[in-house]
Parts: sequence; structure tokens; C-alpha cells
Amino acid sequence: MERASVKQAGRSDEKQIMTDDTHHKAPTLAGVIGWPVAHSLSPVIHNFWAARAGVNGYYIPVAAQPSYADFARVADGLRAAGFAGLNVTLPHKEHALAYADEASPTAVAAGAANMLTFVGGRAVADNSDVAGFAAALKEQGGGNFSGKSALMLGAGGAARGVALALKSVGVADIVIVNRTYEKAEALADEFSLSAEQWDHRDVLVASADIVINTTNLGMTGSPPLGLDLGGAKADAIIADIVYAPLETPLLKAARARGLPAFSGLSMLMHQAAPGFRQWFGASAEVDDALRMAVEAALTKRAGPQ
Ligand code: ATR
Repeated sequence: MERASVKQAGRSDEKQIMTDDTHHKAPTLAGVIGWPVAHSLSPVIHNFWAARAGVNGYYIPVAAQPSYADFARVADGLRAAGFAGLNVTLPHKEHALAYADEASPTAVAAGAANMLTFVGGRAVADNSDVAGFAAALKEQGGGNFSGKSALMLGAGGAARGVALALKSVGVADIVIVNRTYEKAEALADEFSLSAEQWDHRDVLVASADIVINTTNLGMTGSPPLGLDLGGAKADAIIADIVYAPLETPLLKAARARGLPAFSGLSMLMHQAAPGFRQWFGASAEVDDALRMAVEAALTKRAGPQ
């Protein structure tokens, strides 16, 4: 609307201007930083929730090359541009923690942050991967895990968050195996778990109520995780943090045996919710409609099989 016509038109058009101003209120901005980042499903998840809630905002992928300096430069730029917050994915989760002015106890314990929230010019780091895995586990196996035991495969960055999540839901006895035994041992010392040899994993399956793959084995382009579920408990929950493909050979083997199983997609959707609520101030439900939208995006990405 042009100013001249407004001046002549009087009160009713002043009201019109206010409406226009409201309409042009700057959208809330948030995004995900990673390298590579084009594959990230976070924009699909956040933009699904934004559309459903009618939020005036955008969530965009931003690439930052692997060094800390590159990460910090991009984060500085987005903070100055008024971004409400950022999710952080590989290889920058440790950089995000180092960059932050403050960090939540969970992010400190995990040694990594997947969320940065900008408040009053400060960057606050948090880790919702931990709560995300816990929520996915509860969705699958109810709420009560006290006295249960878990076998974790892998001792990398993702394993730290999974170990904290298992402890947070009350899993008492956690055994960790890793190709490089020393890394399993170091993680076991830090989190009071027990470390066992990678080669013993098939035997260890028999005493676990929950089995979790935290390695990249089974991911598209990686070899499958060799794990024999033959001796698994009849109601053992099998979890994979991998979500591409949606059904890894491990999950396929679990379903073939009638075992409850879930993929990394559940964790991914749940870890996104706190950021969306905080930055866009609207509800973020993990439900079938979201799952279908994310699965459709994954299928489209995979292309013709
Ligand atoms: P992330 O942050 O995703 O956990 P990471 O820190 O690189 O990634 O950890 C990868 C995990 O997958 C490690 O536990 C790694 O085992 P090592 O510590 O021995 O490297 C495991 N991994 C990767 N390739 C593997 C393979 N071919 N066989 C067994 N374990 C493998």
C-alpha cells in the first residue's frame, strides 16, 4: 500500500496498515549446520511442523566446512542475522559445545551439542539427542526400564548420547562392545559401564533386554553389522541409530524374529522437537503424519531402487 493513499484515506486505512505490518513481521529463522548438510532431514521435520502450526518462520540447511573456524564463522553470521537457534550435525557437535557461551549439563556430559539457542546475544548449547533416544525407546518399550540391561555396539560420539539416554530411563546394566576395545574401555570408565570384546557380541546378545547399534554399520554404503540375534531374549528391543536405509539388515533380522525394533528415524524426530518448540514457540508432535512426511522425503532421496 502506498503512503499517499493512506494519508488521504484516514482511520480505516491506518488499521489496514497495521494489518500489513503484522503480515510483514520478520519471520523467525532457524536452521541446521553440518558438512555435508544437504542430506539432513531436519528441514523436512521443522518445516512440516511450521506448516502444520501456521508458523511465520523458516528452517534452512547451512553448510559449514569441517574446521572449528569455519563453524564459528558461520554460527557468528547466523547469530548476527537474528537466527533464533541452530541444530548442529556432523562433524560440528563438539565444535558447537566449544563455541557456546553456556551449556546444559546434558551437553557437557555428552561432550557434544546438537542445539544452539541464541538468547540475549549469548549462545546456549544443549543436547536433545539424549532425550530423543530416550523418547524413542519409551515409545517402543513403555516407560519402565529400571533393572533392565543393554548391549551397545560402538563407542563413538553417538554412543555417548545413547549411554546417557539409557541411564536416564533407568537401565541399570550397560555393556559396550567396540571394534577398538580401548575406546569401549574409556567410555565404560567414564560412564560406569562395562566393556567387552567386539568378538563376543553374539554371545552377549543373549543377556540383553535392549540391543543398540551406534556404529555406522548397516548404513547405505557401509558394510552390514554382523550380529546374530539367534540367542536374543524373546522380547528384546532392537534399536539402530541408522535411518538410511530405514530398515537396516539388523532391523530386518529383528522383525523376522518378531522382536520389537526401531530405527534412527524415531530418535531423529524426537531430538528435533525441543528446538522447534523453543525457537518457533509452537507445538511439535512426533506422530504418524510426521513419520510419513519424513519417510516420503527419504524414499524420494534414495531415488529408484
Ligand atoms: P559417530 O559420531 O557417528 O558415533 P564415530 O565417532 O566415528 O561416529 O564412531 C563410529 C563408530 O563405528 C565407532 O564405534 C567405530 O569403531 P572404532 O572405534 O573401532 O573405529 C564403529 N565402526 C566404524 N566402522 C566399523 C567397522 N567396519 N567395524 C566395526 N565398527 C566400526
